[in-house]
Amino acid sequence: MPENSCKIAVFISGGGSNLQSIIDHIEQGHINADIACVISNKPNAYGLVRAQKANIPTHINDHKNHTTRESFELELIKTLDVYNIKLIVLAGFMRVLSTTFINKYHGNILNIHPSLLPKYTGLNTHSRVLEAGDTEHGCSVHFVTSDLDEGPLVIQAKVKVNKSDSPDVLAARVLEKEHIIYPLAVKWFCENRLAFKNSKAHLDDSPLEQAVLLTQDLETLLK
Ligand code: GRF
Repeated sequence: MPENSCKIAVFISGGGSNLQSIIDHIEQGHINADIACVISNKPNAYGLVRAQKANIPTHINDHKNHTTRESFELELIKTLDVYNIKLIVLAGFMRVLSTTFINKYHGNILNIHPSLLPKYTGLNTHSRVLEAGDTEHGCSVHFVTSDLDEGPLVIQAKVKVNKSDSPDVLAARVLEKEHIIYPLAVKWFCENRLAFKNSKAHLDDSPLEQAVLLTQDLETLLK
């Protein structure tokens, strides 16, 4: 990987299927980036195995070994300092980051959330969508700011909700779309097409007044 490639750190807490989709798209040549490290706050996260299989350095920073958020984040920063990281990708990372941390990496942190933000910030989005009787659901990639799940939107994908769906069935349908929109957003960032400027996400130098909506044409960029 050339020295000037886009170096990414991926933060995970669990299965790491979003991590896997980014690994796969890098390997297939759709994204010009190098995942420099994967950091998990959970020692048993399966995403660590996925990273190791792809020969990506892994770091466990268990929040339970820290008495304060500050000390947890100082360890994160120490790890990030080892690599020349351009982008932090939160992929199912279940810890809230402090404003101090977020400001340090301002404009360089992306997150994926399993809902059509601004609807359903927080947890258990799939059950809440079913309880509300919504007919449409989806996922969103956004820049991270100190307002949880409220940073500027980049791209969203929609799925239909069927009356017979269980939360797990719906989650799987949404996850399929996550595996497309997250690699796309990472690709754009690494191509310097996506940036966070003047409190807004910009794509190709134009402010995004609303999220890009995933279309079949966009999907072909990853094929
Ligand atoms: C995804 O649904 C993501 O949107 C949410 O947590 C889940 C992580 O899945 N934040 P995985 O670990 O990438 O498989």
